[in-house]
Amino acid sequence: MEEKRGQWGSTFGFLMAAIGSAVGLGNIWGFPYKMGKCGGGAFLLVYLLLVIFVGFAVMLGELALGRKYGRGAVGTYAAIAKKWTWVGYMGVASGFFILAFYSVLGGMVLRYMVGFLMQMFGAAGFNNMGGGEFFGHFTTNAGGMLLFYAIFMVLNIIIVAGGIEGGIEKFTKVAMPSLAAILLIVIIYVACQPGAGEGYRYTFVPNFDVLATDFFTVLKTAAGQMFFSLSLGMGCMITYGSYLGKEQNLESNMMIIPIADTCFAIMAAMAVMPACAAFGMDYGAGPGLLFVTLHEVFNVGMGGFIGNLMGFLFYFLVFLAAITSSISLLEVCTAYLIDKQIEKGKDPNRKKLTIMIASIIFVVGIPVALDGIGAGRAGGAAIDIPATLLGITENIPVAVDCWLDFYDCISEGIMMPLGAMIMSIIIGWVLGTKVVADEVAKTPGVVLRAEKVLDICFKFIVPAIMVVVLVAQLQDFF
Ligand code: TRP
Repeated sequence: MEEKRGQWGSTFGFLMAAIGSAVGLGNIWGFPYKMGKCGGGAFLLVYLLLVIFVGFAVMLGELALGRKYGRGAVGTYAAIAKKWTWVGYMGVASGFFILAFYSVLGGMVLRYMVGFLMQMFGAAGFNNMGGGEFFGHFTTNAGGMLLFYAIFMVLNIIIVAGGIEGGIEKFTKVAMPSLAAILLIVIIYVACQPGAGEGYRYTFVPNFDVLATDFFTVLKTAAGQMFFSLSLGMGCMITYGSYLGKEQNLESNMMIIPIADTCFAIMAAMAVMPACAAFGMDYGAGPGLLFVTLHEVFNVGMGGFIGNLMGFLFYFLVFLAAITSSISLLEVCTAYLIDKQIEKGKDPNRKKLTIMIASIIFVVGIPVALDGIGAGRAGGAAIDIPATLLGITENIPVAVDCWLDFYDCISEGIMMPLGAMIMSIIIGWVLGTKVVADEVAKTPGVVLRAEKVLDICFKFIVPAIMVVVLVAQLQDFF
């Protein structure tokens, strides 16, 4: 079975793949602006506590279950007990929806990267438009959005079809160190710009008033961010864990991955926010940060050759972060199909299965690419194009006015916290934390030292925090 499924070639390779999955748009885009908005250093403190008491436990739980049962999300839950299989399916479904919108965003990052590259060679990479104008122009251009979305998806297919060691590990082993190096260059360049200081202050100086007045909002923002950023709650780390050999130390991996992810998030904030401050851009711009504000920073603020070079480097690093994450989402779906083939006694054809599932996901993501990222019209081009073809000219009312938010809400907002909650209840109350400790101890010379603390995490802390997140999501929803 192992031979057919594949395995990581080395500890370093596994860590690059797992950290690559964790470090993504969530770190570079979400973390900086959420931190600034939610009390800076105070938010960081809450975030760190959550990583230690929730992130470590769930990370270990997923890796250990994956290695123990040697299967993907669905296979693992089915092996625990038939009645839990649906939790695995919920994970695959989350991967499906997240990958759909994540790849649309990945395609947009590619477009921005190409734009700066073109400008380096004197071409009009952004049609001579400003940040906001170009964003509106590009996101409502159906052909362009689909093209870059498709390119991003094809790159995912190429890597995942290459297998665990020969595809994912091989790629992330080069991509992650490159990402770190480029990020350092950007951080240092930005630090040398006059006016950068205000950005650090806005992002990092603790504002404990926010904690006192709006603790609930800070908690749910930090918890949601942490789950998404650590790729937890949908079986991603179960799947990656299933390719781990018994010689791999789970106790240290459960800490290395979250710590590295948090370092990358802080480093991203040290690059992004001071850059906005130094060039007089509004760093409180929220979700517009990545595509509107930062585009202006490089294109107008820095400007000239250095602006184009830095812009290219920056979007290239965002692209690396995004694709090392998206391949882990695709792997969750592919692993499900591979496990099913093996169960049936067939020889799985990874290439064929990857192409098949990625094509279906591509179709699911088309509405996201066509609605102008929720710009104005309900349903956007996803509705308009077929409607026009059918000769319907009036605006058709639809329930979904931003497909990205919709997919995000059902996956990240509901299915993932629910998945994490159920997994931790299964470990804490049904199987017992000992199952995890036993799995850790299969590596010669390793024992799980924090078993008692983790037991409390699985039994009480994780489920309680997940209830907070779920309640907050449902409140937002209605
Ligand atoms: N962690 C990635 C980010 O921060 C996104 C991601 C990859 C993810 N795999 C995941 C999120 C699995 C949830 C579950 O951008």
